[in-house]
Parts: sequence; structure tokens; C-alpha cells
Amino acid sequence: MKIAIDGPAGAGKSTVAKRIAKQLRFTYIDTGAMYRALTWNAMQKGIDLNDTQALTALAHSIDIQFQFTPEQQRIICNGYDVTSVIRSPEVSAAVSIVAAQTQVREVMVKAQQQMAQHLDVVVDGRDIGERVLPDADFKFFLTASLEERVARRQLDLINQGYQVDIESIRQDIIQRDRMDMERETGALKILPDSIVIDTTGLSIEEVCAQILTIIEEGGHAI
Ligand code: DC
Repeated sequence: MKIAIDGPAGAGKSTVAKRIAKQLRFTYIDTGAMYRALTWNAMQKGIDLNDTQALTALAHSIDIQFQFTPEQQRIICNGYDVTSVIRSPEVSAAVSIVAAQTQVREVMVKAQQQMAQHLDVVVDGRDIGERVLPDADFKFFLTASLEERVARRQLDLINQGYQVDIESIRQDIIQRDRMDMERETGALKILPDSIVIDTTGLSIEEVCAQILTIIEEGGHAI
């Protein structure tokens, strides 16, 4: 079974996807982490983030692995554990530039499809229902108000030990929404078969319960 979860930054996708995967004993694939790892690696190497050719070559050669422990998932890039560093404000600010490039996306989408092949998966991202898993059994689109998404991102960053300014988080989210929705390929959008869940004011538990009910009942929005 394949479950796609798309939506904008801060809608709660990864937390929800992780829990749903655990509950169903499926594999969780965090595609945002893959674009983040690529961006981190490009920055490490001093690659110009607008150089599509260099980024595409890097996307072909990069080794990204997910390691599962009972508590969490670690992301290993070329042998380094990049789980924390890919969430830094520097990578967050740069990743949309990398993810906007069509050729880079083609390589990443293929890698994601290969990972998902032959597995029961929950995959989250922006273009999962449309590009990565167009035949997914369920396509969820999670959303939430801008203010709630800003507050969640602020809490995430504080928990990771970052000093944060709420206005710069808001601007970062607005900017990423715009880039994610307006790019040429793989743009974030609600599909005709998306099941939309507005998570504003809902706890993680409530969102997961809604999703699991929909899956159990075979695919109708509540
Ligand atoms: O979900 P996230 O914030 O970790 O995603 C990081 C960036 O990667 C975000 O700017 C959107 C982009 N992304 C994408 O373009 N396609 C995906 N399937 C997943 C993420």
C-alpha cells in the first residue's frame, strides 16, 4: 500500500507521516529531507545553487540513506549523519532554490520511486500524489493557517536550540510557499483525488486519528 502526504511547510506532514507509518508498520520516506540533504551537500561543496548542471550531477552521485531506530529516523548523506544539520535555518532558506530545478527533481523523483518500490510506504513531500506516487492508494493534503504553521516552526526550531525571530520565520514560510506553489514542475497543489485535512487547531493525535479512520474506511474525507 502507498500513502502520499503532501502539503505546505509547517502543516504537520512529517510528524503525522511518521506516526501513521509506525502505527501501520509501513516505511516512512521523508522526501523533504532528501532535498535538504542535497542542498546541504551542495553548500558544503561550494556549488552555486543556481547551477542546475552541477546540482543534477550531484543528485546522481549523492548517497542518501534512511536509518530507522525504534525512537527515530536518522538521515545519512555520503556516510554523515545529517539529521540535525539539514534542519538549520541556512539549509531551510536555500532548499527551495534547489527544489525548484526541473532536472534536479527528475533525479530525486526517480530515487524516491525506487525507494518506495516493493514496500508499504508513507511518503511525504509536495509532489508525492502527482509525481512520485501517482497511483497511491491514498493521497492526503495537509494544510493549516499561516499563523499556526509559523508557530509550529518556531517551536520546532526552539526545541532544536536555535534562536528564532518570528517575523523571519513568517517571511521564510511565505517565501517557500510561493516557490513551492509556483515552480514549473512538481508544484504543490491539491489534486482531484486529494483528501484535504485542515490541521489548524487539531492535535497530532486528532489528525492521525482522522487519517487512520479514512484509511480503514477506504478513502472518504470525514
Ligand atoms: O518538507 P520540508 O520543509 O522538509 O521540505 C524542504 C523543501 O523541499 C521545501 O522547500 C520543499 C521541497 N520539497 C519539494 O520540493 N518536493 C518534495 N517532494 C519535498 C520537499
